[in-house]
Amino acid sequence: MAMNKNVYLDNSATTPVAPEVLEAMIPFFQSRYGNASSLHSEGRDARRAVEESRALIAEHLKVHPSEIVFTSGATEADNLALLGTALRSTGGHLITSRIEHDAVRHSADWLASRGYDVTLLEVDEFGRVSADDVREAIRPDTMLVSVMAGNNEVGTIQPIRAIGEICRERSVPFHTDAVQAYGKIELPMDVIDMLSVSAHKLHGPKGVGFLYVRKGTKLTPLLHGGGHEHGRRSGTENVPGIVGLGVATQIAFEERDRVTQRMEGFREYLIQEVLKLPATRLNGHPTESLPHIANFSFEAIEGESLIMKLDEHHIATSTGSACSSPNLEPSHVLVALGVPLSMAHGSLRVSTGRQTMQDDIDALLKALPIVVQELRDMSPFKVGG
Ligand SMILES: Cc1ncc(COP(=O)(O)O)c(C=O)c1O
Repeated sequence: MAMNKNVYLDNSATTPVAPEVLEAMIPFFQSRYGNASSLHSEGRDARRAVEESRALIAEHLKVHPSEIVFTSGATEADNLALLGTALRSTGGHLITSRIEHDAVRHSADWLASRGYDVTLLEVDEFGRVSADDVREAIRPDTMLVSVMAGNNEVGTIQPIRAIGEICRERSVPFHTDAVQAYGKIELPMDVIDMLSVSAHKLHGPKGVGFLYVRKGTKLTPLLHGGGHEHGRRSGTENVPGIVGLGVATQIAFEERDRVTQRMEGFREYLIQEVLKLPATRLNGHPTESLPHIANFSFEAIEGESLIMKLDEHHIATSTGSACSSPNLEPSHVLVALGVPLSMAHGSLRVSTGRQTMQDDIDALLKALPIVVQELRDMSPFKVGG
């Protein structure tokens, strides 16, 4: 069975649940199984746990607990931010970037198909949005700006403070998808109106996340039902998941300096070593990057073949984009960065986690030159050709 990889370097896709997180969650599947809306003591116990987790998250973000809306993850949080804003009116203008995660990108596409106007901001060769472009794009009918904090494929960090300040000046709500950035970098919450987070990217469980919604931000709910989360998101709370998200948040913030320093060391070492291979490039910003993501391209190689070959060496990595399209289009992020097509097809994303050790990096660096050479030997394309 292809389970239990020896070397797991795909932490941007998902992370293993931290033992402390699992331990905290287990009672909420067993003895503490109450519905947080029930009035009896089991229900009150579950409610207390949900509210403790909410308070803990709010404390780390320095926001008010009532501003945290638990969701089924970041896809839902992103949809709630974009669609929940747009559905307040029958038209309007949305500004977002070309390198957003599909949860934002396809929400924006959906809005465009319903008659809303969407501006897609270009990025530079490193994947950075310009705050000046945001300023220029804002119109009287702009209802929302949504620019991610850090990119999930190439790791580039956006000038979130500058963008948020412009939005504040122009009284336009600002949403950021902080799925990859949360717990890794400082987030300027004073200029952010909405922020999406997912637990499974930070050693928490899958299927839970939240949308931070600044008090006074107007949103139409997408899920209708029992009026949970103060009417902003109906549905019985995922109590074990919410507890897990709280503990995962606590660990991420408490360990942040130490863990991110280690990740930065791995990233620098990887970049130094991988770029020694011929016809190879780094995608994304060399320094203005999330600490856990490094994305490379190898000429004359298909990224998917590279991933499968590394998998044979028991090393789990990714191309960066979940390549679900049958025609194998290159990643929209790499295309937006202007990565040449011959390179965009051969991308490799290496992403580290709290559990990553130097041995993992060394194993990749040992296998990579072998695999790259094997694939180039088989390739109909020639390096430099
Ligand atoms: C930047 C970003 N946004 C949103 C998501 C979606 O999160 P979830 O898996 O919680 O729906 C992901 C996960 O891949 C992501 O990396």
